[in-house]
Amino acid sequence: MIINLAYIAASILFITGLKRLSSPATARQGNAISALGMLIAIIAVLCDNQIISFQWIIVGIIAGSIIGAFAAKRVEMTGMPELVALFNGFGGISSLLLGWSEFHKLFDNQPSGVYERVNNLASIKYWESGTLAAIILAVVIGGITFTGSLIAWAKLSEKINSKAFVFSGQKVVNAGLLGTSLICGILFCYSNGSMLEYKYSFFIAVAVLSLILGVLAVISIGGGDMPVVISLLNSYSGLAACAAGFVIQNNVLIVAGALVGASGLILTNIMCKAMNRSLANVLFSGFGSATTSSSKKGEVQGEAKPIVVSDAYLILEAAQSVLFVPGYGMAVAQAQHAVRELGELLDENGCDVKYGIHPVAGRMPGHMNVLLAEANVSYDLLVEPDDVNPTMEMVDVCVVIGANDVVNPDARDDESSPIYGMPIIEVDKARTVFVLKRSMSSGFAGVQNPLFFNDNTRMLFGDAKASISGIVAEFKGE
Ligand code: TAP
Repeated sequence: MIINLAYIAASILFITGLKRLSSPATARQGNAISALGMLIAIIAVLCDNQIISFQWIIVGIIAGSIIGAFAAKRVEMTGMPELVALFNGFGGISSLLLGWSEFHKLFDNQPSGVYERVNNLASIKYWESGTLAAIILAVVIGGITFTGSLIAWAKLSEKINSKAFVFSGQKVVNAGLLGTSLICGILFCYSNGSMLEYKYSFFIAVAVLSLILGVLAVISIGGGDMPVVISLLNSYSGLAACAAGFVIQNNVLIVAGALVGASGLILTNIMCKAMNRSLANVLFSGFGSATTSSSKKGEVQGEAKPIVVSDAYLILEAAQSVLFVPGYGMAVAQAQHAVRELGELLDENGCDVKYGIHPVAGRMPGHMNVLLAEANVSYDLLVEPDDVNPTMEMVDVCVVIGANDVVNPDARDDESSPIYGMPIIEVDKARTVFVLKRSMSSGFAGVQNPLFFNDNTRMLFGDAKASISGIVAEFKGE
């Protein structure tokens, strides 16, 4: 009774926390409320002796704490997206392993042996309660999430090429694997009589097929579509946990898993809208693959015009309105504090300062919001592409800080571009554009950016933090 009350309290705190996460102003509070819910849930689970064995919990806590502390210490802020992808994968593999162990619990160590066991009343009860179906769901979704997340991790950390890898007949192969896995799953749940001895083989087949499917599903997605994949895998990890909750009949795991699954799907939908694409199109089109791309990738389309810090300062000093557009490079350079300082100096100079935030800028959802919040940039100054694009002609200077794909005009103008159709921040329409980056290299999608060669664009080469700090120093007369 007390345990169940604790689970209900934890669930309410999760839902309240999630609600508060929807606004930047209440997000920190939401995080703390959800963490409190998780603490209550963990204590309740630890007190419920039916579920746990303390020695293994202690081993798990020690191992997890060591790995977690090591990861937190070692991973740079720019490595966070990969780490999140990896953690999604860990959620998936734990659901798979849990399903596996529950399978053994149901069918092993029975005095009368596996076949009699399945035929007895207890197994019918398990089937009626949906345990076998829940086991297979935990294994399928967990397996796909695990290997899919490993591929996402490898792509994000550039251990493998981020482009879509497609081969002819890939969709047929995927559909075949999915179909076979479905048939094996049904046979696992329903097999009896002479088929019983194959039950374990069906189980292993489903596990192996789902691991292969995870690889094939994510390897074929590339370029700018990774944001959708990350949020979808996040959702899958929740659904796998939810299925695991049904397996071990733990209500709080069911609720928490369902919340992660549902919020992940909402995020996936937001990411699809940000890319202006449907989920089916992202998953099955092989967008951004080498074979589908006929863009002018890598071609030099004119001459880039460099600018030095002192000249950039003079133009900014005279500007009436400035729009900062941060991207992944700001995270790499850790330039957010210098950017905030420059924004304040411009503001004191009578300039209207705003920050244009693209939903998929950086490498994880809300990446730019997190960095700017860390630097204490006011939320009121953040604007979305839809708000800022209609008045872009009125902006004196757009300062693009390590952003590339999210300001690439080809996404709007060039139908052959792999990122065609993705909404962008239309900085090219501003009166003057400064692009802060270290070289002429492409962004995550691997496509060249014609913005760099426009008449109104000036390239401020170098590390973004050094460039912005240089302009700040000019403002201060240092
Ligand atoms: P990108 O297109 O990846 O471009 C980042 C740019 O930053 C690069 O061109 C790089 O040029 C520059 N840069 C790197 N380090 C720098 C430094 N220290 N100082 C200055 N510049 C630096 O970034 P974006 O415009 O933010 O676009 C995001 C891309 O990632 C999209 O394609 C998006 O689909 C994808 N993606 C997003 C997510 C999420 S959820 N946001 C997840 C996965 C993938 P140099 O090397 O020349 O400096």
